[in-house]
Amino acid sequence: MTEAILLVGGKGTRLRPLTVHTPKPMVPAAGVPFLAHQLARARAAGVDHVVMATSYLAEVFEPYFGDGSQLGLHLEYVTEEEPLGTGGAIRNVAPRLHSAPSDPVLVFNGDILTGLDIGELVDVHTRTGADVSLHLTRVDDPRAYGLVPTDEDGRVTAFLEKPQTPEEIVTDQINAGAYVFDRSVIDTIPAARPVSVERETFPGLLSGGAHLQGMVDSTYWLDLGTPQAFVRGSADLVLGRAPSPALPGRCGDRLVLGTARVAPDAKLTGGTVVGEGASVGAGARVDGSTVLDGAVIEPGADVRDSLIGAGARIGSATVLDGAVVGDGAVVGEGNELRDGIRVWCGARIPAGAVRFSSDQ
Ligand code: GTP
Repeated sequence: MTEAILLVGGKGTRLRPLTVHTPKPMVPAAGVPFLAHQLARARAAGVDHVVMATSYLAEVFEPYFGDGSQLGLHLEYVTEEEPLGTGGAIRNVAPRLHSAPSDPVLVFNGDILTGLDIGELVDVHTRTGADVSLHLTRVDDPRAYGLVPTDEDGRVTAFLEKPQTPEEIVTDQINAGAYVFDRSVIDTIPAARPVSVERETFPGLLSGGAHLQGMVDSTYWLDLGTPQAFVRGSADLVLGRAPSPALPGRCGDRLVLGTARVAPDAKLTGGTVVGEGASVGAGARVDGSTVLDGAVIEPGADVRDSLIGAGARIGSATVLDGAVVGDGAVVGEGNELRDGIRVWCGARIPAGAVRFSSDQ
């Protein structure tokens, strides 16, 4: 059995306003907090003990997941008084690990949806005798990411900052946010100060001669850091494109939770999820979207690739496309909201107030 550390303390600024009241790993994706999918996948890979490194809105994790026994896990929570960054968070939970110095310890970012074969990453780590092993994924456009080139044996040769020129794009491999550390390496991270594992720990280990192994695995991978990615990830879970044992229902075009009410002629497609107590009115169309608990979609609304926060209300004949509506916000009827617009929690948009086109 292997232990895992889950990094769940970030502020999730890119995902605001969804993360105003809820830390990113607790925002529901396909009907359950995103973290539930990660925990279920870790459990399925043979992990039995998980230490959660919490900071921002730390108090909400334990009431939901408890000691983990319902998931077949032993869960512990460690809260940073001041955010310690990714590396500092890993070091801060080290006293809770039971592993011996040469045992492998898994570390996961709390916002990555992936079909990674976790057992294979641990096998690669053991087989190659690495100090740290990293899951690497290939992306079409690496310009937004730090790059991680490897040699023919898969050994990491450098950690490169975001490329500025085409010549600097020496690989399409990026850090995918899942690692295996030898326990003893965790103990070498400086304690009680902020440390970035990506910017400080990994480059420092490499220049000190440590063996960092990359495992390129091109299965499903998505960083759910932005609203558009979060909505996409939730829909992919519902559609079954992204695997999770924690899906509260069967994979398909839609997922409607038990107490939700959907009018018989409403059309739910593209992996849409409708949360507990939410409702979708007559003739409404909701495609590829996440409707959180208690939200109301009034008759005739047209919602695509959008996220509707808990208790929010979308007026009839309103069009949403690529929009995020915060918890409790009210969008009056006949509005048109598109292209990454973010309506803040509790905001009120009057009927017919916002349009992207010139029609009435
Ligand atoms: P943004 O503010 O939108 O960039 O999101 P974020 O705060 O989650 O940062 P980022 O996506 O870089 O973080 C990667 C992972 O590390 C996420 O799972 C975060 O929850 C986690 N994380 C980031 N900073 C900290 C920290 O200071 N402490 C802990 N415990 N976790 C952190």
